[in-house]
Amino acid sequence: MREKVLVTGGAGFIGSHLVRFWLKEDPSVVIVNLDKLAYSGDLSRLEEVKSHPRYEFYKGDVCEPRDVEEAIKGCSTVVHLAAETHVDRSLLNGEVFFQTNTIGTYCLLEAARKAGVQKFLLVSTDEVYGSRKTGFFKEMDRLSPTSPYSVSKTAADLLTLSYAHTYGLHTMVTRGSNTFGPYQYPEKVIPLFTAKALSDEKLPLYGDGRQVRNWIDVEDHCRAILHVLKKGKKGEAYNVSTPFYLTNLELARRILRILGKPVSLIQRVKDRPGHDRRYALSSRKLRALGWRERFRFEESLRRTVRWYRENKAWWKAIKEKSAEFKEYYAKAYAGRV
Ligand code: TYD
Repeated sequence: MREKVLVTGGAGFIGSHLVRFWLKEDPSVVIVNLDKLAYSGDLSRLEEVKSHPRYEFYKGDVCEPRDVEEAIKGCSTVVHLAAETHVDRSLLNGEVFFQTNTIGTYCLLEAARKAGVQKFLLVSTDEVYGSRKTGFFKEMDRLSPTSPYSVSKTAADLLTLSYAHTYGLHTMVTRGSNTFGPYQYPEKVIPLFTAKALSDEKLPLYGDGRQVRNWIDVEDHCRAILHVLKKGKKGEAYNVSTPFYLTNLELARRILRILGKPVSLIQRVKDRPGHDRRYALSSRKLRALGWRERFRFEESLRRTVRWYRENKAWWKAIKEKSAEFKEYYAKAYAGRV
């Protein structure tokens, strides 16, 4: 029996990996990808599956009830990834974050409820907890988001869980840590630093570079999403994290080492306002369901950096040809460097 599922934001970074991975893993799944192709949505990420018999693309907006109602028809499951995700952008203009992330999630939940969808999973973020100096956040801890981005995701996250409580919809949330891999938009730190290093340009390290992030390979993240979808309980949130913690300074050094470039390429620049110092999650609850990451950080980082070296055309097209990217970059780094 075939099962039709809706993936929103399937032309995005994690979304496109999820679409490809899921099609490969599960021969019974038919995937409808709803994506409005905003600045970071890119169908070239899905080139290899565009004619796949179990894949359909629907261009539309999660905030537009008509688009959502059309795309959700016949779907028993929704995995919601469509979102504005870049903290620095949210500091320049937060409004679109509340529109897409918060209102968009509301529209989608409403459509899912009306369509009688069986399972709804929101891909949320570790940023909903905010920062902590020591220890690890658990799912029941208080949420303390600190940027327009993370506040908009927190609203979506809690709203999603409320639909289980109020309407009995089988909703679940995954709170993932910093994800990386091929095809990530080059405004995020790993592709940005890699692209800079490959062009022998300076790597703009914010502040003292001692902020700590937890890193997960995009494929391990996708596996976690599918695991929660299968085994997770209604109305529950699951942290998705790994044992791999790194300061941004160490991350920059490792990228340079892999590429054989000098550490003198690291340039300290003005810090991000309100920059969260350390993200740290306990993933015990997810591990108790049987999930484990498969990749070691160093191996994934090497593979990822190699991919950017071998696929320069993909990110160069964005950096050099996209007026939007240039405008964003000029604004975001003005007064920093
Ligand atoms: P980012 O990839 O934007 O993810 P997030 O803010 O969601 O964690 O940034 C990861 C870390 O890298 C974060 O601590 C900010 C830092 N950073 C830099 O030092 N320089 C940069 O140019 C960017 C984009 C990020």
